[in-house]
Amino acid sequence: MAAFTKILDTEEPSISINASHKISKINDNIYGGFTEHMGRCIYGGIYDPGNPLSDENGFRKDVIEALQELKVPVVRYPGGNFVATYHWLDGVGPKDQRPPRPELAWLGLETNEFGTDEFLHWCEVVRTEPYLALNFGTGTLDEALGWVEYCNSSANTYYANLRRKNGREKPYNVKYWALGNEMWGPWQVGQMTKEDYAKRAYQWAKALKLLDPSIQLILCGQDGYSTWDSYVLKECIRCDIHGLGGDTTASLISMHSIHIYTASSEHLPNATAPRSAERAIEITAGLIDLARIENKVPPTVPRQTICFDEWNVWDPLRAPGEQGAEENRYTLSDALAVSIWLNVFIRQSRYIGMANIAQSVNVISPLVTTKSGILKQTTWWPLLLFSKYMRGHTLAVNVRCGEYEGPTMPVWIRGTIETPWLDVSAAISDDGMISMAVVNIHETKDFSVRLDGIEGSDVQVYTVSGRDINVVNTSDSCEVGITESTWDGANSFSFPKLSLTMLRWKS
Ligand code: AHR
Repeated sequence: MAAFTKILDTEEPSISINASHKISKINDNIYGGFTEHMGRCIYGGIYDPGNPLSDENGFRKDVIEALQELKVPVVRYPGGNFVATYHWLDGVGPKDQRPPRPELAWLGLETNEFGTDEFLHWCEVVRTEPYLALNFGTGTLDEALGWVEYCNSSANTYYANLRRKNGREKPYNVKYWALGNEMWGPWQVGQMTKEDYAKRAYQWAKALKLLDPSIQLILCGQDGYSTWDSYVLKECIRCDIHGLGGDTTASLISMHSIHIYTASSEHLPNATAPRSAERAIEITAGLIDLARIENKVPPTVPRQTICFDEWNVWDPLRAPGEQGAEENRYTLSDALAVSIWLNVFIRQSRYIGMANIAQSVNVISPLVTTKSGILKQTTWWPLLLFSKYMRGHTLAVNVRCGEYEGPTMPVWIRGTIETPWLDVSAAISDDGMISMAVVNIHETKDFSVRLDGIEGSDVQVYTVSGRDINVVNTSDSCEVGITESTWDGANSFSFPKLSLTMLRWKS
């Protein structure tokens, strides 16, 4: 949480922080990833058999190392829009018997060479947790039940035995399951009305939890501030004792998924666009509480959280989905936007159960593979800094500074949430290190800021910046990276124009 006080641009800005003002635990799962059968994310991204950079499973080792460096805790799969026509049985068993199928989300061909066992094995190699999305388009409840049984059951039953036959004795214990993806979207195979979706989601949830009460189910929301969100929450966040064998301390639905992509061709609307996600989180959290209140959900049932399982900077005109959405190249402006996205998740940590950058490799991703290596885009660096250091608990900060007052994307940001020049979040880790992230979006102005509450004289400083807003990283040159320095903690600190600065000190 950050309290913002607007001042004149001519006044001295200040930021106050207090190590004892902890707000909420930051769920490590906010640093989640997403791998979809789309473009070069799976084939040529995480899976590239025959490439000297791949291991004996065909998994790209450089991608595995990068995701381990990011400490990605959870990865969503297999879509995205792809999942709406995906039949998981096509992707298990001997590879030479798997059927190639037309793929209707991105109009490609799916060979099914990479499927459930490959993905779940890959997760074990990466040391990350899987999050699977169920097919709500052409799929059936029987198929979904079969998939959960295949992945999680240790019983002597058909699909558990099929898994054993395919070479895997012990269950994978997949905890997170999504009840469809973007089922409200006109592009979706099997698009539904909110009424049809809510009815189906609730009945599927009941059956899935009867089969495996340990799983966590994620409801398919929209962007968090739509009629779809309020309706499906009201219908599905209930007192569920019938589906849970009389247990009044559990619920069928654990999280509500929302998706937002931000973008603008202009720097300041681009950099401030993630503030719309912040407002969306606040609204969704209100809708969750409203459903709980109206449906008399007892306080013994843990509050449902938000699963922001697709977020990023993405302009579909710049990187069309049908062409694999391989982002031309992310700019410094995009890196600052991603920094503000991450600040949003830290500030709103009390409501966020998971967040997944879309996507983990090649498709609108901070990581791009070539045949001979991996390119770390501008957006990789803020992600790395946050994932390394912004863990533990969110700290309250008070920010006094001027505000950008021009056009925003979307327009409704103006009038619903502020867009300060300095976007700030802070966290305290379990070992007492405080990390404060400050994004200065101004194109020409460095801000000299009075910092109240920084203790000691040994402050580590990490800066992500670059020559100008349009600069990009290429395989030959890393124009935007992390520079490290120290600060003695005295007087004011100058936050350079167009930068993310992370200050770290011991409390
Ligand atoms: O991440 C790319 C696509 O964007 C996903 O498949 C879909 O869910 C969203 O619209």
